[in-house]
Amino acid sequence: MSEEINKIKVTIDGITIEVNPGISIVEAARQIGGASVPPTMCYYSKLEGSGGRCRTCLVEVSKGSERDPRPMPKLVPACRTGVMDGMEVKVITSERVIQAVQGVTEFLLINHPLDCPICDQAGECKLQDLVYEHGLDKTRSEFPRKTFRSDDLGPYIKLNMNRCILCARCVLVANQLTDRRNHGILFRGDHAEISTYLNKAITNDFSGNMIDVCPVGALTDRTARFKSRVWFTEPVNATCKCGKCSGKAVLWMKGDEIVRVTARKDKYNEVEEFICNECRFERKDLKYWNIEGPAHISNHSVVSVNHYESSLPKDDPHYLTKKNKAKTIE
Ligand code: SF4
Ligand code: FES
Repeated sequence: MSEEINKIKVTIDGITIEVNPGISIVEAARQIGGASVPPTMCYYSKLEGSGGRCRTCLVEVSKGSERDPRPMPKLVPACRTGVMDGMEVKVITSERVIQAVQGVTEFLLINHPLDCPICDQAGECKLQDLVYEHGLDKTRSEFPRKTFRSDDLGPYIKLNMNRCILCARCVLVANQLTDRRNHGILFRGDHAEISTYLNKAITNDFSGNMIDVCPVGALTDRTARFKSRVWFTEPVNATCKCGKCSGKAVLWMKGDEIVRVTARKDKYNEVEEFICNECRFERKDLKYWNIEGPAHISNHSVVSVNHYESSLPKDDPHYLTKKNKAKTIE
């Protein structure tokens, strides 16, 4: 018989909810949803040990708990701070938090190139979103941005180290999903960088998921690079028969051509089910796939500008053709 869990009360931006003890402030905020969910550039709920690196999720704890109501003196990372009974948290209602996130965003951009016009991640980049929401309209940095030697990661994954924000999600994917890790964060402090060191190719199965978890354009799909801006492609949900993964993916189509295959993502941009390298890189032909229908794209995303979800039944032969599309409202 399952034991009943005693829920605890947490208040975030004035909204009180009951949650299971032991979860983080980010997870509690996600249960509320909306603008009170702190941005998370390194935390990833599907990867054990993620978070605590980027500081974009800083929040103010104005009341520690019912038992000890003292506020926490410093802002805390919401992804690494557990909730307590009676805790009160401020996210968008705290001027300190708003200023801190602006500062962190500015720091993340100190070395990040402004190469969105040629970056394959543009339109899906979480740093781009963060800058739109919290960035300054100009840089105060007078120093040249860092440059790196080019590391060859093999035929599947392209590394642009100058775009990396060192969130370590790709390292966790390699540790937790693949049979061995061939890359990591080398050196320390401002010398830290992602590298294979010995220029080893990263081709082991499930390594393609590093591309999906990378919040910026540091890791991109070499089989799809420069083929199309993401907003000119049409994402459709599709499944294939696969013995290694669930075979549930999103095909990014241009006409009948499959430009790219990715895993499906939830509303927090996290992969729902990780997919294998064969599905991602080797199945660029419609014969492998059973099309379910247009993937749902949030209206928040630029991809939605050119995206339509069909009003026809899924078994209709015109389900995916342009003339029968009707834009759905989220
Ligand atoms: S390459 Fe991407 S996923 Fe890996 S540490 Fe850098 S930003 Fe994070
Ligand atoms: S998401 Fe919390 S520190 Fe990065």
